[in-house]
Amino acid sequence: MRKPMQPIWEPWVGSAVLPAALIVGDRVVDRMLTRTGGMFGLWFPGIGKAVMVADPTLVREICRAPADVVDSAGANRVQEPVIGPQGLGSLEGADHRRLRAVMAPAVRDRALPRLRTATEELAEQVVGQCPVGTPFSLRPLLHQAMMRAVLEITMSVERSRQNVWLRAIQQLFLLADSYEITIRYALRHAGALALWPSYHRAKDVCDRLILDEISQRRRRGDEGDDLLGMLLRARDERGARLTDGVIRDQVMSMIAGARTTTSNGLAWAFERVVRHPDALSRLSDESDKGSEDVYASAVLYEALRVRPPVAFFGRRVRRPFDLGGRRLAPNTTIIIHLRSLHHDPGLYPDPAAFRPDRWLDRRPAGYGWMPFGGGSHTCLGDRLAIMQMKTFLQVFTRSLALSPADRRDEPVRWKAISNSPGADCRVVARHR
Ligand code: HEM
Repeated sequence: MRKPMQPIWEPWVGSAVLPAALIVGDRVVDRMLTRTGGMFGLWFPGIGKAVMVADPTLVREICRAPADVVDSAGANRVQEPVIGPQGLGSLEGADHRRLRAVMAPAVRDRALPRLRTATEELAEQVVGQCPVGTPFSLRPLLHQAMMRAVLEITMSVERSRQNVWLRAIQQLFLLADSYEITIRYALRHAGALALWPSYHRAKDVCDRLILDEISQRRRRGDEGDDLLGMLLRARDERGARLTDGVIRDQVMSMIAGARTTTSNGLAWAFERVVRHPDALSRLSDESDKGSEDVYASAVLYEALRVRPPVAFFGRRVRRPFDLGGRRLAPNTTIIIHLRSLHHDPGLYPDPAAFRPDRWLDRRPAGYGWMPFGGGSHTCLGDRLAIMQMKTFLQVFTRSLALSPADRRDEPVRWKAISNSPGADCRVVARHR
C-alpha cells in the first residue's frame, strides 16, 4: 500500500502541483499523492477549496456517501454550459434516477446485441480507411467513428446529415474544452459566461438541430426507437411528458459523455498493445478464433487501468464530511484522480507495467479500478463503451497487423479532463 511520508495539507502547497503537472506531466500528482497517503488539499481559482484523492478506501467512502452529504451535481456545474442545468450530470435524487431509468435501455443490456452488429460494421469501415504500409494517426479515425456512432444511437442521424451535426458539435466543444471556459467559469459571477457571444452562437446551432429533430418527430407522431424516442415517450407519475429543454439536455449529456472518451480509451488500448508484441499476438489469435473475448477484455481492462481516458471525476461536499481523519467543509470539491488510483502498488504489483494477464482470472471490481466513475452517477455509457472498444480491438486485429510507428511510449496529452496518446496513436498497418 502507499506509504505516507509527509502529510501535506496546506492548500497553497497542493495548488502548486497542478501548474507543475502542466509543465512536467501528471506524474507529479502521483508523487504528491504517494507522499500524502492518497489525499492532499489544494485550491482552484473559481472553484475554491478542493482535495485530491486516490486512496481506494477513501474513494469508497466518497462514492457511498448519501447525496445530501456529498453530491456529484455540485462538482459538475462547470459542465453546465454544455449539458445544461437539467442534464444527468447536473441532477441528483429522484429526477436523476428517473431520467437514468428512461435512458438506460438505449445503451445497456438488451440494446447491446443490436448495437454490436452496427459497431462491427463501423469497425470494418474504419479498417478500410487505414493506409497500409505507411505511418498514420489512428486516433482521429476512431474519434470520427465514435462520434458517428453516438449520433446514430442517440438520434438515428442519417449518414448524409452527420457532417452538419459534427461541425456544430465540434464548434461548441472547441470552446467548452478551451482554457477560456475555465477562466470564464471562475469569473462567472461577473457575467463572464453570460456575455460570451461565440459560445452562445455555437450552442444555439446545436440546440436548433436537436429541437428541430424533436419537433419533426412530434409532428410525424413517430417518436422512434432510439434514445431520443425513449425520452419523447417518457411520462412522469402524473402523465406529463418531458419538456424539450430537458430532452435537449439529456441528448447533449450523452454526446458530451461519449465525445472523446471512447475514442481516447481505444486509442490508448492500441497504443499499449502494439508495444507489447506477446499481448498483441494473443489478442490476434483470439480474434481469429472468434469464439471468445477473454483476452480482448483483459487487454481493455488493463489499458483502461494504466491509461484511463478520463483523468479524474469530481464530487462536492454539501454537509460536513469526515474523510481520512479530516473534516471537509461544505462546498469543498473532491477530485478523484484515476491514473494515480489505478497505480496503487498494493492493488497492482509493478503498477506501471501493462500486463493484461492480471485480468485473466478476475474482473474489475471495487474501488481500485474506476475508469467509469462510481456510485449513482457511474457512467451511463460504460457497457456500450466496453462493447465498442472490444469489438474494434477484435475487428482490427483480425484484419490488420499493427506495429508502432515509434517504439517509444507516447506521452500522455492532458486536455480538460481527458487523456489521449500524445502522438495520436501513430501506427503502421499491414494486411494479415
Ligand atoms: C471509455 C469510455 C468512457 C469513459 C472512460 C467514461 C467515463 C465517465 C466518467 C468517469 C463519468 C463520471 C462518473 C461519476 O461521476 O461517477 C461518466 C459519466 C457519464 N458518461 Fe461516460 N465514459 C465513457 C463513455 C461514455 C459513453 C459512450 C456515453 C454515452 C453514450 C457516456 C455517457 C455518460 C453520461 C451520460 C454520464 C453522466 C452519468 C450521470 O451523471 O448519471 N459515457 N463517464
